[in-house]
Amino acid sequence: NVLILDFGSQYTQLIARRVRELNIYCEIHPFNNPPQDVSGFKAVILSGSPFSVRSEDAPHPDLSAIKGKLPLLAVCYGAQYLAHFNGGSVEPSDIREYGRANLSYINSSEPFFEGIEEGSQVWMSHSDTIKKLPEGGVRVASTADVENAAYRIEGEETYAIQFHPEVYHTTDGRQLLENFLVKIAGVAQTWTPDNFVDMTVADLKKKVGDGKVVLGLSGGVDSTVAAVLLNKAIGKNLYCIFVNNGLLRKNEFENVLKQYEGMGLNVKGVDASARFLEALKGVEDPELKRKAIGRVFIEVFDDEAHELKDVEWLGQGTIYPDVIESISVKGPSATIKSHHNVGGLPDFMKLKVVEPLNMLFKDEVRRVGASMGIDAELLGRHPFPGPGLGIRILGDITAEKVRMLQEVDHIFIEGLKSWGLYDKVWQAGAMLLPVNSVGVMGDERTYEKCVALRAVESTDGMTADWVHLPYDFLQKVSNDIINKVKGVNRVVYDISSKPPATIEWE
Ligand code: XMP
Repeated sequence: NVLILDFGSQYTQLIARRVRELNIYCEIHPFNNPPQDVSGFKAVILSGSPFSVRSEDAPHPDLSAIKGKLPLLAVCYGAQYLAHFNGGSVEPSDIREYGRANLSYINSSEPFFEGIEEGSQVWMSHSDTIKKLPEGGVRVASTADVENAAYRIEGEETYAIQFHPEVYHTTDGRQLLENFLVKIAGVAQTWTPDNFVDMTVADLKKKVGDGKVVLGLSGGVDSTVAAVLLNKAIGKNLYCIFVNNGLLRKNEFENVLKQYEGMGLNVKGVDASARFLEALKGVEDPELKRKAIGRVFIEVFDDEAHELKDVEWLGQGTIYPDVIESISVKGPSATIKSHHNVGGLPDFMKLKVVEPLNMLFKDEVRRVGASMGIDAELLGRHPFPGPGLGIRILGDITAEKVRMLQEVDHIFIEGLKSWGLYDKVWQAGAMLLPVNSVGVMGDERTYEKCVALRAVESTDGMTADWVHLPYDFLQKVSNDIINKVKGVNRVVYDISSKPPATIEWE
């Protein structure tokens, strides 16, 4: 178990992911709210930070229970922090130290650098530099521009590096982390999907016991994996509800429901399409649509939860990035989770919450799902927004528009699959535009709808690039859509990146 103390760097989550990739469990805690007792941790990593150690409001945590007592790796700000407050000095650097650099000197007798050679590429991102090492500091690596690129403290298992081992451009970053965590700190590499499943199922049995859990399935990866874990632990005491809001993809409700049943889940499909459509009638504003869809979902879910007797728990597929967000250095995010705010809420939100995935990153959720035998196709699904096609039909929503867009989307997505492109794309979908344009079909003039296709590459949806889909593919899909979908006579492809555009159009 490794502790990562976060000083607010944009890369802190990446450190955690790299550590997890070594099959080592780690937790991120904000520097201003660290765990009371650190004795259970086998090693500690200090992250980078947007602050300069010399600024007044720079993070200044008390490391007395850590430094010299536990193996410690200080990255970037962490390295400067240890220097600055322990007799060294940190000053603004003359040149901007940002981007790729190479380790021109390495003390190769250090186990820290085992398997790493001089010339190894590292990623720098800092504007201060360590001019003088702290007490007991011994330089162990340099680059052409950064003399103190890495140091260690005599007599301690403390290592400090100015560069970022977690960033992909640091070629031997993984090896460095492994050297520190495994060779130096002796941490066991036992964080595997199978172990996670065994551990979590045992924990869930203990925590929930004979209690009943209600869980909303969405067809997405997170809620599915959460349900399968809970099912392993408590079986028929897990009640899953899968709501059709009428804005899912073509045949999705029926297909996914069948899949869930095939997985042995105790699931009830609730077709509330009409109720959602009714609530959306005439609503054009994207945010009002989202609100209406959210509100009706809560009503439907609450009605269903009331049908169940003696439910104590609400199961959720919350994953680790959401948790980190809510405990981050910057404080809880603006969108405080609604279940923390109990007064006046629907009854199911007053239930105790059980979140079996709240320690996992997305890629780990997939690996855990695979280790439990969940279908690879389900685990590899593109993300799909909660409001579904509702925010891909620009302007007001009608049953006819939903049908049209479902057909278009189906042709596009099935096309991506049959051309072997689906897994190369992070997310794809079609938008029905509130635009009619003139066309000709045979001898007839048409005046029909226009659709936009969108396919993006991304890692987390925060930024995205449009995918350069082959022209042949676009041509085929465009033909199929215009020939097969009544009411559509024009197809365009969205070539905007995020930022400044967003992935969805609404
Ligand atoms: P944007 O359009 O903001 O989308 O670039 C980023 C990611 O978020 C998804 N998205 C949503 N997901 N409810 C959701 O559950 C929403 O209201 C919503 N809006 C956008 C979007 O599909 C993309 O993956």
